[in-house]
Amino acid sequence: MKMPKKIGVLVSGRGSNLQALIDAIKEKKINGEIAIVISNKADAFALKRAENNGIKTAVVDHRKYSTREDFEKDIIEHLEREKVELVCLAGFMRVLTPYFVSRYRNRIINIHPALLPSFPGVNAQKQAIDYGVKISGCTVHFVDEGTDTGPIILQKAVVVNDNDDEHSLAERILKEEHKAYAEAVSLFCDDKLEIEGRKVIIKKE
Ligand code: GRF
Repeated sequence: MKMPKKIGVLVSGRGSNLQALIDAIKEKKINGEIAIVISNKADAFALKRAENNGIKTAVVDHRKYSTREDFEKDIIEHLEREKVELVCLAGFMRVLTPYFVSRYRNRIINIHPALLPSFPGVNAQKQAIDYGVKISGCTVHFVDEGTDTGPIILQKAVVVNDNDDEHSLAERILKEEHKAYAEAVSLFCDDKLEIEGRKVIIKKE
């Protein structure tokens, strides 16, 4: 068995995806350990979830920095101190600059609540409802310099019902997010993901 990978999770809010990772690690479904949870918001509930599980936390408040790079430098300092090998974005509401992305190239994973490349950016579930799609879902992907454009690791589909609004759809997608995120992080931690251009190949045994 390989050494568990050290994971840093960046959050801004509720942290249900963080919780899904914490639970999957406890259940030994992921060969990793969360070394630190970093929030740009001091009141993020995600921080409480980390504390409740004895995980180190840090607040790096973006409003205290005059440039994005300075903000990111402090985040990187925390990640390096903890020797983080994988950065997971879990409801982190700041766009990362090329500076950060190149520092952790192919080692940053994000979860997005739509089937990319449809509906990138904010309010993805509302975008899906407004467009009238019959199927939406979630996407776990590597992070590149664009917004929600990096190579796709996993997707899970969710049927959109006629009576759905953005909230009911978001709720059903979220359940799939929790499974998809844990699965994707597990594959990364087992060194089973290979990136070939835009494609992510999941290596078999
Ligand atoms: C999720 O819907 C995720 O896909 C998006 O932001 C939301 C975060 O939720 N990126 P939570 O903080 O993980 O509960």
